[in-house]
Amino acid sequence: MEKIMGEVIRGFTLSLLIVNCLFYPSASDSTDSFLFGGCTQQKYSPDSPYQSNLHSLLTSLVNSATYSSYNNYTIVASTQSDVVYGLYQCRGDLAIPDCATCVARAVTRIGSTCSQTCGGAVQLEGCYVKYDNATFLGVEDKTVILKKCGPSVGYNPDAMSSRDAVLAGLSGSGGAFRGVGSGNVQGMAQCAGDLSFVECQDCISEAIRRLRSDCGTADSGDMFLGKCYARYSTGGAHADSKAHDKSSNEGEKTFAIIVGLLAGVALLIIFLVFLRRAFGGEGK
Ligand SMILES: *[C@@H]1O[C@H](CO)[C@@H](O)[C@H](O)[C@H]1NC(C)=O
Ligand SMILES: *[C@@H]1O[C@H](CO)[C@@H](O)[C@H](O)[C@H]1NC(C)=O
Repeated sequence: MEKIMGEVIRGFTLSLLIVNCLFYPSASDSTDSFLFGGCTQQKYSPDSPYQSNLHSLLTSLVNSATYSSYNNYTIVASTQSDVVYGLYQCRGDLAIPDCATCVARAVTRIGSTCSQTCGGAVQLEGCYVKYDNATFLGVEDKTVILKKCGPSVGYNPDAMSSRDAVLAGLSGSGGAFRGVGSGNVQGMAQCAGDLSFVECQDCISEAIRRLRSDCGTADSGDMFLGKCYARYSTGGAHADSKAHDKSSNEGEKTFAIIVGLLAGVALLIIFLVFLRRAFGGEGK
């Protein structure tokens, strides 16, 4: 009996894995691409209260992303050193289901990148996740985390004025998420949801100032600071291909869900037949 249950459990775990693979075929989905990650040096000990608090925190983040594009959590503990703080922030133009998928992927990524470290952070295209045992919630942080400038296109007055218009638009429009386009330049800026309006404005201004000074005449620039970022990119063709990606991804997703459901039904039938054999056989 124990052996049979072992087989059943093993078979079922395998089925779940297969279904999972079928459900998530578009690993290259643009909102899930990896931008950066980092971990603290300090590690926690396995099976410690901190570890279980961290698991609760990450679970809360993943769950919360199914209904909100930003949230923060603090898992309190009797000992101060076991307290864990965390937040996630989805890109402002992301629909909630995509936000949820992104945060789940980011949490998985943190788990594999930051093995048993007290703190860690991951930025994917569509979302940001961070946790630590020292509080960082509500604290403005303008440390440069990622700076990337595209190839310089030389001085082109039209391109420069489009870019400057986009950067000016980004710094001028208030709000935690900003998207601006001018000519064939697109720009985007966002703060983590824990910053106040004034802090957010200050952080984004700093990111834009650095983009201007560091990326010169580059055709694209990404400036990620601790609690905000500003980015721009040039090229209508690029933007068109992005829009195309999105719709074909939508189709792929629907297809994947249908295949996943069919596979699920098939596996359920196999499982039931297996159960009948296993237990029917034992009765004889
Ligand atoms: C975080 O955890 C590390 C390792 O346990 C510890 O050395 C450090 O003091 C902790 N930081 C805080 C703010 O509790
Ligand atoms: C953290 O979340 C709580 C409850 O959702 C909220 O009231 C609080 O303002 C948040 N804190 C920060 C720093 O965002």
